[in-house]
Amino acid sequence: MKTLAELFEHTLKDIYYAENAITKALPKVSKAVKNIELKNAVDKHLEETKGQIEILKRVFQTIDVKPEGVQCDAADGLLTEADGLIEESEGVALDAGVLAACQAVEHYEIARYGSLREWAKVLGNEEAHVMLSEILDQEKAANNKLTNLAVTSINK
Ligand SMILES: [Fe+2]
Repeated sequence: MKTLAELFEHTLKDIYYAENAITKALPKVSKAVKNIELKNAVDKHLEETKGQIEILKRVFQTIDVKPEGVQCDAADGLLTEADGLIEESEGVALDAGVLAACQAVEHYEIARYGSLREWAKVLGNEEAHVMLSEILDQEKAANNKLTNLAVTSINK
């Protein structure tokens, strides 16, 4: 990789892989948590994530590249960590721990989409900039929702 365009394409494939991995992981997370509000938040984010994958396919179209993922070690690591928490915890520790693990994933996504949408802008790809900004806003909202849930109910 040498150019910003190549970096953009690579990172787009990285987050595409991550979103697909998240889609596979969330049903297990939803099943594991006890707090009903947390469960609802996870279910809602699963649906939102499926929508994000569709938006990403349209971003691929703007650069004439077929949508495909490249393995993302960071997302794999974060999801493995969440899985470990589910196996090893119960009660309040399980819900609080899984919520924190979900936030780690959100923070990763916020970092990636923040870079991607700025690169799209610099590359003159306004269409991609708008779509990636839309996803970034969804991730930030999901993260804020988790923070509120933790502070107002789960951690109590
Ligand atoms: Fe996402």
